[in-house]
Amino acid sequence: MLASPETANHSTSMTAPALSPQTSALRVAILASGRGSNLQALIDARDAGTPIELVLVASDKLHAPALRRAEAAGIVTLALDPKGFATRAAFDAELFARVAAHAPDLIVLAGFMRIIDPAALAPWAGRIINIHPSLLPKYPGLHTHRRALEAGDPLHGATVHYVTAELDGGPPIACVEIAVRPGDTPETLAERLLDDEHRLLVATVGLIAAGRLAFDGARVLLDGAPIAAPLRLGEERLTVA
Ligand code: GRF
Repeated sequence: MLASPETANHSTSMTAPALSPQTSALRVAILASGRGSNLQALIDARDAGTPIELVLVASDKLHAPALRRAEAAGIVTLALDPKGFATRAAFDAELFARVAAHAPDLIVLAGFMRIIDPAALAPWAGRIINIHPSLLPKYPGLHTHRRALEAGDPLHGATVHYVTAELDGGPPIACVEIAVRPGDTPETLAERLLDDEHRLLVATVGLIAAGRLAFDGARVLLDGAPIAAPLRLGEERLTVA
């Protein structure tokens, strides 16, 4: 197994902010495979006072920039290489056992580019969310920006949803829309969407930290009542459709 040791550097980091007592903060673990800009948005939100404690950043890529961002922010990291495991199920079982050891209240998939074994997901139902760069249920999977352009969609966007065994198929919690412009390429669209993705993820995690969101196995509940449609991100905050 190729696994780097976990590094607990809260106590030594010069960049770790002085937080108020974290007993009431939502304990959040983040899984990320790549550059980690959504992770950074959560770090910045934490530093700005959102009541979350980032208890772990884990990656399936040993050299993911997300891990470096986490270290710089004084967050414990875990890198676990799938090549060291015989099966997806074995990797996922180990990964989620390691995540569970940090007792998160919430797991955030923030650019975690793997399909997860349903058995590993099952214990986390209602406590694991994903951010996906499309207006789900449109375009689950990859190449979402290109697919939106090829379809001639006037609107594109991103969605935060509870994770179920179906790829990008769990119930949407909240979304943000942007207009597609003439001449847009997959790259320009992705770049223009990214800031909104960050705001969407931070706003959604903020609602969860405030205890206002839940998943009853079928429906997303806001303040105890099912939502008829995903919450929508406006200029400042999430609104009910
Ligand atoms: C984001 O577009 C996210 O929506 C998708 O993967 C990308 C990750 O970007 N799931 P980053 O690693 O957070 O910068």
